[in-house]
Amino acid sequence: MVGVGIIGVGFVGRIHFNSWLKLPERAQLVALCDTEPDRRAGKIDNVVGNLEIKATSQPTGQSFKSYADYRELLAAPEVNVVDICLPTYLHAEVAIAALQAGKHVLCEKPMALNLEQCDRMLEAAVKAKGRFMIAQCVRFWPEYRYLKEIVDDQRFGPLKSLHLRRQAFLPLYTMANWLMDESIAGGMVMDLHVHDTDYVRHLLGQPDSVHAVGIDTPGRGVDHIYSFWQYPSNIPVLVEGYWDMPPGHGFNMGFSALFEQAGVTWDCATGKPLTVFLPNGSSETPEMPSNDGYSNEIAYFLDCIEQGRPPQVSTPQQSRDAVAIALAESESVRTGKTVKINWRD
Ligand SMILES: NC(=O)c1ccc[n+]([C@@H]2O[C@H](COP(=O)([O-])OP(=O)(O)OC[C@H]3O[C@@H](n4cnc5c(N)ncnc54)[C@H](O)[C@@H]3O)[C@@H](O)[C@H]2O)c1
Repeated sequence: MVGVGIIGVGFVGRIHFNSWLKLPERAQLVALCDTEPDRRAGKIDNVVGNLEIKATSQPTGQSFKSYADYRELLAAPEVNVVDICLPTYLHAEVAIAALQAGKHVLCEKPMALNLEQCDRMLEAAVKAKGRFMIAQCVRFWPEYRYLKEIVDDQRFGPLKSLHLRRQAFLPLYTMANWLMDESIAGGMVMDLHVHDTDYVRHLLGQPDSVHAVGIDTPGRGVDHIYSFWQYPSNIPVLVEGYWDMPPGHGFNMGFSALFEQAGVTWDCATGKPLTVFLPNGSSETPEMPSNDGYSNEIAYFLDCIEQGRPPQVSTPQQSRDAVAIALAESESVRTGKTVKINWRD
């Protein structure tokens, strides 16, 4: 049994809170930290975001301590696992301090705002005794896991083209609206689109280069992107992301993947299951596990801690790569040029 402390109990902190509660035999929430008194006291039923939070926080029967200062939470010996759900500009500082305090650290994506911060985190992780993982929930999402499976095992033949999409309205819910300030949030590409950036890197490896077009909003960053990833195989890969639709649009994530012997589509906003369209005109809807990516990533991180092994499904180095590619995609939008990705797996 590990003791868990969440630092930052806003939108995603509330989702993590609910996910940890699903593992009562293995983990106990022992500490919450937030600068907001209600949030650190666990009064979070009214905390919202750009996704519906399905599981509401219930009285837990577990008692946790509340902290306003993260350093005090890090000093608590009953906290073994620190779950960082803070605004992006605080990830590096707090993750490094938590690793140095000897804790296991799960930190929300994106890893950090820039590569210098990512590199300092990687350095701290190498010296640390605790496990470290960036919470790349899409790698753990059932539909995206299924897509990775069928790309890898080629049960429908080789992949011929891929289009991923993440489409939303402007997220104005964050504390003091930090998310709308590119200098501390990194803009839509770093915050929303980076999910797919990380996933495509996971699915197909590093591209040779990226070429992107989009809408750049002064102060807020790139709000809208169509990003073309170039691979030696010449498979067309389009990664689309935006958060500038009017509020009624809601949130969607999904993909269309064409294989030699099937087409596979999914869009969460439609409420329809992932569908595999076959050459003879029939279609299949493979059953997906019911747990979402957040619960799966947390359970996986806990497996790694319990089994004393470093996370492999998502490594900190790969999360650093996602930040590097996202920065290249933004650069391409701003310069109109193709940006080379100068490293290989
Ligand atoms: N994986 C996902 O699907 C997903 C979804 C949303 C957000 N995120 C990521 O999670 C992080 C948090 O985003 P959010 O939407 O939950 O933001 P949020 O503003 O809703 O929550 C952040 C919380 O941190 C608290 N906080 C701020 N500074 C603090 C400090 N110094 N000490 C303690 N608490 C402090 C705020 O009071 C707030 O409650 C971001 O990095 C974001 O990119 C991930």
